[in-house]
Amino acid sequence: MSRAVAFEVLRQITGEGAYANLALSKRLAKAKLSARDAALVTELVAGTCRAMGTYDRIIEAAAGRPLTSMQPAVVDVLRLGTHQLLAMRSPAHAAVGATVELAKQRIGRRVTGIVNAVLRKVAARSLEEWLDVIADGLDEMGALALRNHHPRWVAESIADVLPHAEVADALAANNVAPTPTLVVRPGLASVEELGGTATSLSPFGAVREGAPSAVAAVREGRAGVQDEGSQLVAWALARSAGPEGPWLDLCAGPGGKAALLAGLARERGTMLLASELQEHRAQLVRNALAVYGEAHVVAADGTRPAWPQAAFAKVMADVPCSGLGALRRRPESRWRRHPEDVTELVPLQRALLDVALSSALPGGVVAYVTCSPHRAETREVVEQVVGARDDVEVLDARSALPEVPDAGLGPYVQLWPHRHGTDAMFLALLRRRPEVRR
Ligand SMILES: C[S@@+](CC[C@H](N)C(=O)[O-])C[C@H]1O[C@@H](n2cnc3c(N)ncnc32)[C@H](O)[C@@H]1O
Repeated sequence: MSRAVAFEVLRQITGEGAYANLALSKRLAKAKLSARDAALVTELVAGTCRAMGTYDRIIEAAAGRPLTSMQPAVVDVLRLGTHQLLAMRSPAHAAVGATVELAKQRIGRRVTGIVNAVLRKVAARSLEEWLDVIADGLDEMGALALRNHHPRWVAESIADVLPHAEVADALAANNVAPTPTLVVRPGLASVEELGGTATSLSPFGAVREGAPSAVAAVREGRAGVQDEGSQLVAWALARSAGPEGPWLDLCAGPGGKAALLAGLARERGTMLLASELQEHRAQLVRNALAVYGEAHVVAADGTRPAWPQAAFAKVMADVPCSGLGALRRRPESRWRRHPEDVTELVPLQRALLDVALSSALPGGVVAYVTCSPHRAETREVVEQVVGARDDVEVLDARSALPEVPDAGLGPYVQLWPHRHGTDAMFLALLRRRPEVRR
């Protein structure tokens, strides 16, 4: 049953472009499996998705033919079988037998021969032995990427911003699913109420195994789920010195940072305006902020602001990005993304940062945030936008997060899963110069 459910979900992911996490949670809710079987399905799907590019090379080597010559459903069955054999250390006869049976039930008797033959070949070597085979002839970066289940261009983009000695650790950290991190809505819940272990860097969070909905404060909207890195960048903006005045979240959906910022703004006697392009995501922001009673949320294109210029003391520009910093939580995304996905977003990122700066009061602070460490969508965007204006000063973002070690990247903050246990969030803090009005 677990393998059949995993196969169904994997078909949705590879065949229909479904997101692994959403497809899994939807299907698991319907399947009503025991906790143990649900965990097995999750491991089968998430583990297979994470290492898919590597498994595909192994399957091609074992089959002696390209994947494109095989039926897509057969490829998915082989991927699931390969994951069981090489990563879950299932006994070979059991994993091969169960996977051949799955192929017979779900695809047809005629494919059992190829599934059996390929998986027997896969089972003849360990993962390490297979990696030696398929990495043969690759250069150092190619082999590092393959051994850590990353496309080469993603590994290169990480190597571009980290010391060489850390790259392998950074890639390996992307292969470990994080324990859910909860966050309080400031003023409405305490970290103790969340249970689990208080986060070591953010004063608002706790790490807790199990379903977040088991926590009363989460059910009541007085707490939510949010990576510690997202908590830290919102906190950095909230605590940076600036003028009095309202705050703006320019790209607010689904509302994680807006909820934290709204609570912190309220504590300081001001308000947050949250803006989001897509109406359905703006609705998610309204839901997240509803617990505060009065929520100021608009559905608007941030590049054509629906508010006056120079009006906000603090502005969060958490722009749409490649999401390469959240690979731990999105197992399939590394194989779906392409280098063009990064470059295509840059003009929008620049335009949003420019509006964020123009929206800030003189002396106001703007946080430019991405959930990505990629140079082109982080510091290059900041440098291009700041370079084209005469009214912006780059602040030392590290001094806004003094308790976070090893987070400096020039004047910026770059968080890392392997260093901080957070997503790889990037933060630049910029001040609109008080003396110049545009
Ligand atoms: C990285 S997400 C923001 C995450 C959010 N800050 C949070 O913490 O929950 C980027 C958001 O920007 C929105 N977006 C995309 N283009 C936009 C635009 N032109 N104006 C405003 N928002 C936009 C996307 O719909 C997406 O919800």
